[in-house]
Amino acid sequence: MDINKFVADIIKDQLTKAVQEALQELGIEATVVLEHPTEGTHGDYSTNVAMMGFKKVPGEWKSPMELAEEIVGTIKDKDTDKEGGELVDKIEVAAPGFINFWLTPNALLKELDHAQKAGDAYGAGKPDKTMVIDYSAPNIAKPFGIGHLRSTIIGQAIYNLYKFLGWKTIGDNHLGDWGTQFGTLLYQITTKKLDVNRLTIADLEGEYVEFNKMAVENPDLKEEARAWFKKLEDGDPESREIWEKLKEISLAEFNRIYKLLNVEIDYAYGESFYQNMFEQVIQGCVDKGIAMEDQGALIVDLSKNGMPPALIRKSDGASTYLTRDLATVKFRIEKWDPDAMVYETSSEQDLHFRQLFAIVELLGWSSSIQFLHVKHGLYLSPRGKKFSTRRGDTVHLEDVLKEAVERAGKLGKDKDTDTERGGELAKEVGIGAVKYFDLSHHPATNIVFEWEKMFALEGNSAPYLQYTYARTRSVSEKARGLKRDKDKDKKADRPLDSFNIPLNSEELAVLRHFYKFPVVIREAAENFSPNILANFLFELAQKYNSFYNKHRILSDNKTTAKSKAVDGRRESVVEFRLEITQVTGNILRTGLGLLGIQTPERM
Ligand code: ARG
Repeated sequence: MDINKFVADIIKDQLTKAVQEALQELGIEATVVLEHPTEGTHGDYSTNVAMMGFKKVPGEWKSPMELAEEIVGTIKDKDTDKEGGELVDKIEVAAPGFINFWLTPNALLKELDHAQKAGDAYGAGKPDKTMVIDYSAPNIAKPFGIGHLRSTIIGQAIYNLYKFLGWKTIGDNHLGDWGTQFGTLLYQITTKKLDVNRLTIADLEGEYVEFNKMAVENPDLKEEARAWFKKLEDGDPESREIWEKLKEISLAEFNRIYKLLNVEIDYAYGESFYQNMFEQVIQGCVDKGIAMEDQGALIVDLSKNGMPPALIRKSDGASTYLTRDLATVKFRIEKWDPDAMVYETSSEQDLHFRQLFAIVELLGWSSSIQFLHVKHGLYLSPRGKKFSTRRGDTVHLEDVLKEAVERAGKLGKDKDTDTERGGELAKEVGIGAVKYFDLSHHPATNIVFEWEKMFALEGNSAPYLQYTYARTRSVSEKARGLKRDKDKDKKADRPLDSFNIPLNSEELAVLRHFYKFPVVIREAAENFSPNILANFLFELAQKYNSFYNKHRILSDNKTTAKSKAVDGRRESVVEFRLEITQVTGNILRTGLGLLGIQTPERM
């Protein structure tokens, strides 16, 4: 079996084609769009093409309903196998002109088997293209902020999604380890004769604040800081040594956070890596005739693109954030020859990336590469203010993560976080809750930071999904236990009767959700919207739990373990329901895994 062929694709192609052919026969030109209706009573697929087509050919039909009937009639005439066939159970017309399609239980069951056999590879793609993903990117000598947390979480989810779909994904943590901020610190450290070896990130933050206060009264200080950065850029050994130390202090802290987040990024070249390439890049702009002098500085005029000019070299000769990004693009193209380059940062950097992409295009580097800036919004405090780590009254990322782990430890009955396992579990649930909370929103939205929602056991939260996963695992485990007992008990060994009871609506609801998983993953990736996957998983968990609450899955009591005709291959209700349980568990594990969220076996 080809694991890359999903019922969802086959059916969509076939239905689209059938509808298109019917339209052609009726002389109507319209694009067929098939959608999954939100209401289960409207079938598995639905199209409004009759409403669209009706407008295009006025007078031919009395109403969109009539046209819809005609289309359906044509489909049925042409291909008797479409309805009542292997894949399509029935086709119906619904007011004011929708055409709804139902899949056969058999098609759903086939996909169930497919999902079961494919296991964790269900929905995966084949090796294909290369993507560089630039994410996380905290700044050296500054605290790891909430914005960098968002970038880390969203960037990693995008990385995972594309990797799963077969892309060669390369993660690059573009650390902010170069730039004028080092001038500020060099000034503070050298004039105050501070011992770098004893400085913490909090101290460094204090030095910025102090410097900025002083600079308000004495603007010349900014010049001093710039001069220090220039010295660093020119290779001054003293500056260099201090800078190395600052980097070391910061990386130690960042790595602690990455470990807590369970994130590893393939590369971390950082801005400083490109020091020796600036001149070449700047020269490239000059040679192309796109750079011009402006009061001693060098700029690229982007007025034709409706943007302010981009500064690529300061008047003192120092590089800028943009120059470093240009060098980075060049380096990545030479090293990895990617098909796509994706950046995940706050939407505040929108102009920066638009300028970067415009210059890359002017330089003619980008003809076959897709450049994309995935922007994230802000975290807001419940009072609607920006939730930031910069100001004195604000929250630090590490405190947030620590609180999340603590809250997770207090969830449910098991408050025992002191044991090693309890601590590990609290971490998986707490960090999972933070990640899921973020990823269940579209990246571009501003999110109100609400602990209650993050940990809502009955809501759209990681703990709810993790509980559901653990539930599927405990059911399967119990089944294995029962089977062992049964094997010992010879009497229970007799074959189960053959059966013929239709699927109940809760079983159907789960089956009708499963087959969408491969499509949802692709949609989430193509739209750079992990929230599409998150919400799919939430719905799956809800559907599974309704099924679980209403029906017995396992029973040592032979009357409930009645045999049932599903499709002749499954021997009993128990076996069938276990398969549903297992596939639910697999999809939750795979899906949450793609979101970077761990799935403890027990909770
Ligand atoms: N360090 C930057 C910041 O914190 C983000 C870097 C994003 N990546 C890039 N290639 N510019 O704002």
